[in-house]
Amino acid sequence: MTDRSADTALLDAARTLDAADPLAAHLDAFVEAPGVTAYLDGNSLGRPLRDVPEKLAAFVREDWGTRLIRSWDEQWMALPMELGDRIGAITLGAGPGQTVVSDSTSVLLYKLMRGALRQAQGPRGATQGPRGTAQGSAGRTELVIEEGNFPTDRFLAEGVAAEMGATLRWITPDPVHGVTVDDVAAVVSERTALVSLSHVDYRSGALADMPAITAVVHDAGALMLWDLCHSAGVVPMQLDDWGVDMAVGCTYKYLNGGPGSPAFAYLRHDLQGLLRQPIQGWWSAADIFAMGPEYVPADGIRQLLSGTPPVTSMLAMQGMIDLIEQSGIDGVRAKSE
Ligand SMILES: Cc1ncc(COP(=O)(O)O)c(C=O)c1O
Repeated sequence: MTDRSADTALLDAARTLDAADPLAAHLDAFVEAPGVTAYLDGNSLGRPLRDVPEKLAAFVREDWGTRLIRSWDEQWMALPMELGDRIGAITLGAGPGQTVVSDSTSVLLYKLMRGALRQAQGPRGATQGPRGTAQGSAGRTELVIEEGNFPTDRFLAEGVAAEMGATLRWITPDPVHGVTVDDVAAVVSERTALVSLSHVDYRSGALADMPAITAVVHDAGALMLWDLCHSAGVVPMQLDDWGVDMAVGCTYKYLNGGPGSPAFAYLRHDLQGLLRQPIQGWWSAADIFAMGPEYVPADGIRQLLSGTPPVTSMLAMQGMIDLIEQSGIDGVRAKSE
């Protein structure tokens, strides 16, 4: 075959794949970027949906401009939890009341790492938590993390370990295939308080075996925290069924929330109220407007909030969550594979 006929055959094959692609119809849903033929940087910043400019304008005109402060009661107070439930149902395999949208991934990692270590080392003296997880066991002083994890995860782990008098235990995984069940099994023990890993490796794209690793961590009596930044919106997950304790992820990559849009955190039902996050601002209090003398944490997932949520930055992701719901996360995964 000549080069030219090979090119034509390749082009024909690509056109056939495009014609059979159930997601191709959605290309028009996104803002066109002149000069960009194929955008392969959604793992860093997703592109905006075409209706985002009008949605933002309507928000300024109506919800903010016309309804003014009434919008807090009418819709914004509940938005972090409502959006969390949508993300949970459509992308995480999480039942309602366990996911909340707030802060950045870095801040949520801090809250959950710190909360988990405090829980594991806490003064209560109990040794067994739900499903055999660590609870108040003074012997659990190790935080397990891996060398290839995203810098913010490693830096936060170092900071939290120093703050809590914990020891970091490092996994050195294969740089291409990522962290394995055996890597984790080799380091966890009765000293492990928390294991914190990324589901998808940000450099190689390696996909960790979330259910098997979570099970190994639980067998050791420790808690498991997953960073889902590179999997939320593209890799199907079943956090509830897989017994995941905690997870965080960002919304500006595959959830197309826009630069700096807030992150989400998942904390499964039976850990809520056991694990106390450290930035206990008024939005995490049982009664936000009690203005009382002492802090009482909220019962539900709102306990992970701290201060006033960034409502404007929660607008753009809503259309993308709807689009993922329409297309189905399994279809998105099939196309990426
Ligand atoms: C895997 C992973 N974790 C954490 C972060 C940090 O997120 P943020 O800067 O929003 O806190 C990123 C950012 O790209 C990331 O890719």
